[in-house]
Amino acid sequence: MLGIIGAMEVEVESLKEMMENQEILKRAGMEFYKGEICGKEVVVVRSGIGKVNAAICTQVLIDVFQVDAVINTGVAGSLNPEIHICDIVVSTEAMEHDMDVSPLGYEKGVIPDMKTSSYPADPNLRILAKSSIKAAGLDVAVFDGKVVSGDQFIATPEKKDMLCKLFGGDCAEMEGGSIAHTAYLNQVPYLVIRAISDQADGKAEMDYPTFEKKAAENSVKLLVEMIRAY
Ligand code: ADE
Repeated sequence: MLGIIGAMEVEVESLKEMMENQEILKRAGMEFYKGEICGKEVVVVRSGIGKVNAAICTQVLIDVFQVDAVINTGVAGSLNPEIHICDIVVSTEAMEHDMDVSPLGYEKGVIPDMKTSSYPADPNLRILAKSSIKAAGLDVAVFDGKVVSGDQFIATPEKKDMLCKLFGGDCAEMEGGSIAHTAYLNQVPYLVIRAISDQADGKAEMDYPTFEKKAAENSVKLLVEMIRAY
């Protein structure tokens, strides 16, 4: 069974609408929608925004629903000049960019005493995403990319630059890194799919509301084809 997380309602509402044999279970203040999409068993949940909500949500999917894999769908700010608004990023890896123990001599982004602080996405889910692009009938480009996550909305060129240069991020959002971290600790495969709603720059607060819905829909379009083929 696939676990599907979106932080916001706009990121999961159409998945809930297309779900059959729906059953709703509440855990940790979140509503988990269990049912079938394209004849496949899935659990769809809105985690709420930010790394803590997303980590707790992932752990519930793993412990309570015993999902075989976790996919995060949603929107993100682009950090890569080649990746434009409404394009899609399929994660190669994901990390938490606001982890900072540098006063103690660790590099920024490094979590002390962890084997890694950037978590590779599941290769099979990445292949599934690639092979689902055509069927999704998208009018945008799909990129492989590194997802960097923090409890911050990125909306200045300085911060954007820092995330590019220091971490090599391709898109910034607020949950993927913690979902990846939780999946890694539990040895559960994961993938992040994010469509671009803004460019994480000085125009981000204007672009975001304009493109949020279209971007969220693009991410879901690719995800639905992945579910169909899963
Ligand atoms: N999600 C969408 N755009 C974002 C941004 N610029 N920063 C963080 N999360 C986002």
